[in-house]
Amino acid sequence: MAEHLSQSELDYPFKLLEYFNGFRVSKVIFSACELGVFDLLLRRPRKPISGSAVWAQDLSCKRGGRDGETEWTPGWGIEILGVETKDGTDYSFCFHFGSSSSDVANLLPSPKAAGSPLHDMIIYQSQTIYPLWNNMADAVRGRIKIEKTFGLPSEDIFKALYRSRGEMLKFMGLMNSSWVLDGHDIVTAFNLSGFQKIVDLGGCTGALAREMAKAWPSSSVTVLDLPQVVEAAQKHFPQEDDAVEFQSGDFFSDEIPPADLYILARIIHDWPEEKCVTLLKKIHDSCRPGGGVLLVEALLFENRRGPVTAQIFSLNMLVQTEGRERPPSEYTRILEKTGFHNVQVCRTGKCYDTILATR
Ligand SMILES: C[S@@+](CC[C@H](N)C(=O)[O-])C[C@H]1O[C@@H](n2cnc3c(N)ncnc32)[C@H](O)[C@@H]1O
Repeated sequence: MAEHLSQSELDYPFKLLEYFNGFRVSKVIFSACELGVFDLLLRRPRKPISGSAVWAQDLSCKRGGRDGETEWTPGWGIEILGVETKDGTDYSFCFHFGSSSSDVANLLPSPKAAGSPLHDMIIYQSQTIYPLWNNMADAVRGRIKIEKTFGLPSEDIFKALYRSRGEMLKFMGLMNSSWVLDGHDIVTAFNLSGFQKIVDLGGCTGALAREMAKAWPSSSVTVLDLPQVVEAAQKHFPQEDDAVEFQSGDFFSDEIPPADLYILARIIHDWPEEKCVTLLKKIHDSCRPGGGVLLVEALLFENRRGPVTAQIFSLNMLVQTEGRERPPSEYTRILEKTGFHNVQVCRTGKCYDTILATR
């Protein structure tokens, strides 16, 4: 039975206060990840983690982070992280971030445990995106953001994002991690079995391309990206018996290789419309007859009042790029303007959606 709330409880601005605290909750998760708390939980799944001594020993922190206090004890840190404890001793990995605890356990953002895809996502959010969001008001006023946050010129967004090799690798880690969650839904949203040669333009580490090759094994899949990205993808994100090939190139200034299907995953949202039109026209010219283009983006509702994730992604584009998220009608208009037709939209119900158009 629903609990009866008094009028004064109903009037209390819980939601507002919860939003005010949102950044603090994020920082708890980010800091836990950076400190290796998830590693500790993985290593000690059946033992009590009851005192600051354990945190001090395992996380190389002072006792509890501050003399004599116990901030990083299970008391509140674990509570926010949503780890459940049975009989006060057994820390099971029931994160409340997903529906199935076992699935979520596999995604634990542990820095050391192999196959912890959310780790790279969290590190990039914490160290790069968090400071950028600090300049939200300036970004809304139309002022340059990356320039202010990191002291870099932002006329070439990827020069700024790749301002050091370390930053580039962190960005690549973030890109790599998303497709663990959404990749399969994206590549199977449409029947793509008729496309023989697929080129993933700006395909980064090849994570989505590999999902594509797995789902459609009779196709050949090539990732095209900037030379330094291709070199780093092969060195730092290699895969045995890789099903995808890599090719270096600049999709704005070099020729686009001929193919039956081009993937543009999270590419259009980086750029203003003129650049998107230039790129899509080039793709149209290189596309084989009967071929197409598959856009992968977080689609806004037509009235732009949701989904919240897509709105937040759009603000994220605002603080660091010249682009934004768009509703399906805008993609359709741009695709038709560049010669594509038969535009089909598929909302996956996850963070990213997909649009297929034919030449
Ligand atoms: C937002 S990321 C998307 C990566 C990948 N498609 C994904 O969704 O995981 C944009 C990608 O485009 C690449 N890129 C940017 N400008 C490029 C250019 N002029 N030519 C080729 N690739 C480019 C970047 O290196 C990066 O890998």
